[in-house]
Parts: sequence; C-alpha cells; structure tokens
Amino acid sequence: MDKAKQGSASAVATGLRGVIAASSSVGDVNGEKGELIYQGLNIHDLATKSTFEEVVFLLWNGRLPKRAELDELKKNLAASYELPWQIVELIKGICVRVARHFEPMDALRTVVSALAMFDEESRDLSRAASIRVATRLTARFPTIVAAIERARNGLDIIAPKPELNIATNFLYMMKGEMPDEFDAHVLDVALILQADHELNASTFTARVVAGTLADMYSAVIAALGALSGPLHGGANTAIMKILLEIDDVDRVEDYVKDALSKKKKIMGFGHAVYKTEDPRATHLRRFSKEMGERKGNSKWYEITAKLEAIMKREKNLLPNVDAYSASTYYMMGIPLDLYTPIFAISRISGWTAHILEQYADNKLIRPRAEYVGPRDVPYVPIDER
Ligand code: COA
Repeated sequence: MDKAKQGSASAVATGLRGVIAASSSVGDVNGEKGELIYQGLNIHDLATKSTFEEVVFLLWNGRLPKRAELDELKKNLAASYELPWQIVELIKGICVRVARHFEPMDALRTVVSALAMFDEESRDLSRAASIRVATRLTARFPTIVAAIERARNGLDIIAPKPELNIATNFLYMMKGEMPDEFDAHVLDVALILQADHELNASTFTARVVAGTLADMYSAVIAALGALSGPLHGGANTAIMKILLEIDDVDRVEDYVKDALSKKKKIMGFGHAVYKTEDPRATHLRRFSKEMGERKGNSKWYEITAKLEAIMKREKNLLPNVDAYSASTYYMMGIPLDLYTPIFAISRISGWTAHILEQYADNKLIRPRAEYVGPRDVPYVPIDER
C-alpha cells in the first residue's frame, strides 16, 4: 500500500472525492438520482409527514419511534432545554457590546465547550450515556443560539417552554413571543431536511474526533468548526448577502455574468455529490415561494428563482439546500448570521448519530498523505544558515 501511495499522484483523491471512508446506516446520498435517505426512509416522506423530534429518534435508533418512545424522547429533550445558570452568565458575558464582532457560530462553539464542564457523563462512551449526552446537546443548541441572539442585542434571555417542540421553542426564545404557526412548521421541516447528509465535511470531522475515543462534546465542537466555513454551513448566509446585494430581479443577469467573469462563486449553487436536483432544495423552494406569498413580498424568492435559471444556463449548476433556505429564513425575520447556527441546531442530530455509530464499532481514522516535499535535506547548524 505504501508503495502504491509513493508511486503516483493519481493515487491521491483530492478532497477525498469518491473515497468511501466509513460504513454507515445513518443516511445515504445518491447524487445521480438526487435521492437522500435517513436510515432507509426517503427525505420526501420525512419532510411531508414527520417531525424533527421523530427524525432525531430515527437517526439515533435506526427506526421510527412508537408513540410512547417519541413521547419519552420529547420528555427527555424538554427536561434538558434549560441551560445551567453559569452558562447563561457566560453567554451574557461574551455577548457584551465589546465582543460584538464575533460570529454567533464562534459563540455557539465556545458555549458548547463550556457546557461539557457541566456534564458528568461526558467521558462515558457507553451507548446509554452517549444517548443521554446527545439528548442534552440536541435540546440545548436552540436555547444557546436564541440566548446568544438576545444577549448580543441587549435583550433579556427568554427561558424555554418545555411544552413546545424544538422549532417552535427556538423561534419563541429568539423573538420573545410565540411564532406564527406556519413559520414554526417551516422551520421544523427545515430542521428535518438538514439533519443528516452522510459524510459531509462536519460529520466526517465529528467521526475523526470520535474515532480517537474523545468525548462527544469534543467531536461536536470540531464539527461546529467545520460547519462554520463558507463552503459548508456558511453558504446560506453568503447567498442571502448576494440576494441583498442584487436586490432587484432585473439585476440578476448582470450580477451573475459579472461574478462568473471574475471567477466568483454564487453560493447556494453546486454540490460535491448531487448531479441532479438536491431533494432538500425541492421543499425549500416551495417554502420560499409560499413564505413570500404569505408575507406579501416575493422579491427574494423571485431573485433566487432567476439565479437558479441563469446558473443552470451558464454553468449547469443547480441550487443546493442553502439557495432557498436563505430567503425562507429571511422572510421569517431571522438574522443572517443565525442561518448557520440553525443548520447546527438540525445537524447536531446527524453528528451525534454518526458519533454513536463510530463508538459502537470504532477504528481510529488515520489516512496517509502523499509526501511531495524534498528528502535527504542536510541539517545546517543555525549559525551557518
Ligand atoms: N458558483 C460558481 N461556480 C461554481 C460554483 C458556484 N456556486 N460551484 C462550482 N463552481 C465551479 C467552480 O468554480 C469550478 O469551475 P472551474 O472548473 O472553471 O474551476 C467548477 O464549478 C467545479 O467546482 P468545485 O468547487 O471544484 O466543485 P465541487 O464539486 O468540489 O464543489 C461545492 C462543490 C459545494 C464546494 C461548490 O459547488 C461550491 O463552492 N458551491 C458554493 C458553496 C455552497 O453553496 N456550499 C454549500 C454546499 S451544500
């Protein structure tokens, strides 16, 4: 194997494209068919019939829950919604005016790291304890993100309501009032759509860290770092900035031509695996359109739709999950820099499912690199260099 590796650059799969790096039953992406499944269930069924909480159970347990099991999970999630008071103080502390330059993703990562200090089970990697840790993380992500949003705007932090589901609770805590039912439903489905996506960059990162038998918090913090980049979870904010810059449906054509001539990427388009319609975009396109109609402002949907047509014509690139989620969230009044933390509120379910899988049948993940540097370099003493 070493010989083959030394032999030629063609042995290197740049960006690990096409390399099968783990066996998993959590989810599968079929890029040719445009199909996404979670534990065998089609995303279209889940997006139209299920709830985020049910999908969390599915990802962790490999099957849909019976009613009593779902009730039990919801009870356990609700019991963990609240944050230790020290964490609330930490959020207030890091969100004071002087620290406002940070991204909410940075604050989320920092707070999750601090949260590990309060979890006595964090080093217990048994399945039973790991499920409890995963439950606490999944329950607390929305509370943390909403608290960051309130604190950085100098507003009171709103306590979660145990009777609300994750999507409704998040909007309630963020806005300080009960959300519109349609908005809460759309967010619930958006959370379903982003829950897992096989070995995407952040999930792979989580598995690499879990593969060292580090605790679940460490794996999740590393995944948050991977998700924050503009080529992964940061794309939804980036596309909304583009939509705002374009601002008028008649300017889309010129904007795209100019951007492409400068080799600039239009975020929200293209995908490393899908060669046809991203099935998540199908639902978010529908929501973006309906949201625009309901709120009496279809501009952002129309600009995205025109971008879609031009990107297809010019580059044969299709919208991914981010393209239409941006305008959907914007119409819900969610600040731009919370789009990626919302992605994390969803993807924590997939990350933890993969971490559970990694712990259950662990092997240290340790690939090789093709060395392209010099060899046999003589050591020159410092005074002679
Ligand atoms: N806008 C403009 N051009 C794009 C593009 C985009 N969104 N996505 C890909 N391209 C172009 C590249 O510039 C490149 O062109 P070239 O061959 O002339 O250099 C070609 O298409 C291949 O791009 P590459 O980045 O190598 O393909 P990939 O399969 O590795 O890319 C992504 C997948 C997702 C990283 C890429 O499409 C991208 O950066 N998209 C925007 C970011 C985004 O939306 N990410 C969220 C993914 S869910």
